[in-house]
Amino acid sequence: MIHRNRILRQSPAIRAMVAETHLTPNDFIVPLFINEGKNYKEEISSMPNYSRMSLDETVKEVKALWNMDLKSVLLFVKCNDNLKDNIGKEALNADGLMQRSIKEIKNACPEMLVMTDIALDPFSIYGHDGIVENNEIVNDATVDVLAQMSVSHAAAGADFVAPSDMMDGRILAIRKALEQNNFSKTGIMAYSAKYASCFYGPFRDALDSAPGFGDKKSYQMNPANRIEAIKEVLQDEAEGADIVMVKPALSYLDIIREAKNAVKIPVSAYHVSGEYAMIKAAAQRGWLNEEQTILETTLSIKRAGADLIASYFAKDVVKLIS
Ligand code: PBG
Repeated sequence: MIHRNRILRQSPAIRAMVAETHLTPNDFIVPLFINEGKNYKEEISSMPNYSRMSLDETVKEVKALWNMDLKSVLLFVKCNDNLKDNIGKEALNADGLMQRSIKEIKNACPEMLVMTDIALDPFSIYGHDGIVENNEIVNDATVDVLAQMSVSHAAAGADFVAPSDMMDGRILAIRKALEQNNFSKTGIMAYSAKYASCFYGPFRDALDSAPGFGDKKSYQMNPANRIEAIKEVLQDEAEGADIVMVKPALSYLDIIREAKNAVKIPVSAYHVSGEYAMIKAAAQRGWLNEEQTILETTLSIKRAGADLIASYFAKDVVKLIS
């Protein structure tokens, strides 16, 4: 035998030295769900140990994350029902919950990178990511609103806007609008290959944003498709995205790798709410070891090619590796 592969596996020391992939706090983007109110923190029923919080609690959480060396948060807000409409008016409110949140978080923790969700679903009476006309989600009118929304978040101090809506042409429109309004330093993390996935269920519970009619298949991607994902990431890179994203992560590890090989910009992956819920549920029943499952799945996302991982497990991972 010339090659005895077990030589490099025989002790913790040699295994550590030849490990090809390492997780660090720099890998993570931490999603946060923000609610109106004060002193409020409520566990999301389908996401054990993950909460929706009022802004004062969120600010405390952001400081704690920064102290753990985590460097970016991705903000989602829960909009009150009476403020929802079809055109996302509340999304543009300079005093809206999102805009206030960005300001307060940047004030309290200026170095934390603040990324914001750009899509209409939390603000839509229909729970869709775009404007609805005759039961259809219209593209170009939606893109106009998304560009204004991005400018509004940039004005409040967002470091990156993260369009998650899957409308066509929105990256170029957003880049243009940011430039025209002198926000040349605001970045764009594009949800480029976002699939119409069943794994977003718990997230929609968190924001009360489930689609009121139909589904999101006319704008989010068909899970059957691979080449289309490459087209999407290349197009977003050409339109000016700074970071492209593949979402969800675990069922799409092949797509993460393909995206990584295709573009010359960082690739992020979103380890989504349903993936979190699956692991939590199995762990609660004692069917899987929670800590090992978290580390193995997160490592697999990075090994697949993700430079950044949006994950509800970010804090757990940082604790486990330190
Ligand atoms: C909405 C949005 C969704 C997620 C992020 N932004 C849900 C959806 O598209 O219906 C899902 C995140 C998760 O499941 O963790 N534009």
